[in-house]
Amino acid sequence: MDKANRTPIIAGNWKMNLGRAEAKALIEELRPLVENALCGVALCVPFTDLDTAVAAASGTNLIVGAQNCHWAASGAFTGEISASMLTEIGTSLCIVGHSERRQYFGETDETVNRRLHAVLDAGMLCIVCVGETLAERESGQTFDVIRRQVTGALKDVTVQEMRRIVFAYEPVWAIGTGKTATAAEAQEVCAFLRTLVRGIYGRTVAQFVRIQYGGSMNAKNAAELLAQPDIDGGLIGGASLKAKDFAEIVAAASR
Ligand code: PGA
Repeated sequence: MDKANRTPIIAGNWKMNLGRAEAKALIEELRPLVENALCGVALCVPFTDLDTAVAAASGTNLIVGAQNCHWAASGAFTGEISASMLTEIGTSLCIVGHSERRQYFGETDETVNRRLHAVLDAGMLCIVCVGETLAERESGQTFDVIRRQVTGALKDVTVQEMRRIVFAYEPVWAIGTGKTATAAEAQEVCAFLRTLVRGIYGRTVAQFVRIQYGGSMNAKNAAELLAQPDIDGGLIGGASLKAKDFAEIVAAASR
């Protein structure tokens, strides 16, 4: 469905890596390498790097994002960060529902939905992560899991808000393992995800919504994955920690 009308977006997910000095150095190295990108380029950095990253990315095409935020506006939530705290320092994107948060921090479809609303209400872009585990894939539940995660995340989200949502299909078994989904496997699920969106919001929204693939995407395999008709970018973990590797993926998405 009309891939040519969707601008791809490549987002780095630094996870819990790089202190402020390293963050500044990486962004300074990256800036000239991606300044002519024909795709969106985002960096989702640790909370403590956000102000450094916003300063280093100022005046460039780089979008600075966070990796999570709390759903409440403020209050007694020790250790948490609100969406407005993020926007106040210039953050314009936030990831929600990453599988590491689902696996290690008790994230559920309901809390993903609440965080998504907080991100949207704050005016940011949101990358919503979904993906099945190896056990779920092997027992034939992939589509059921994706349906549950997507419909759960999108509860009470309006058509207008869909403009600021990007999905990331990240099979859990491919994250950080070096085991990428084949282009055909990734395409199959991304196409399914698009039909789910079409079922809820109709054809127009399904045509513009961007769906990234994530899970061991790197400079070598990016081009083939990004050429798939329903894959509109990538969420990049390990390979986003090196400017040259990340820039090569951005270049592949720009072709
Ligand atoms: P990876 O991580 O590229 O290191 O597999 C992707 C992600 O978790 O977003």
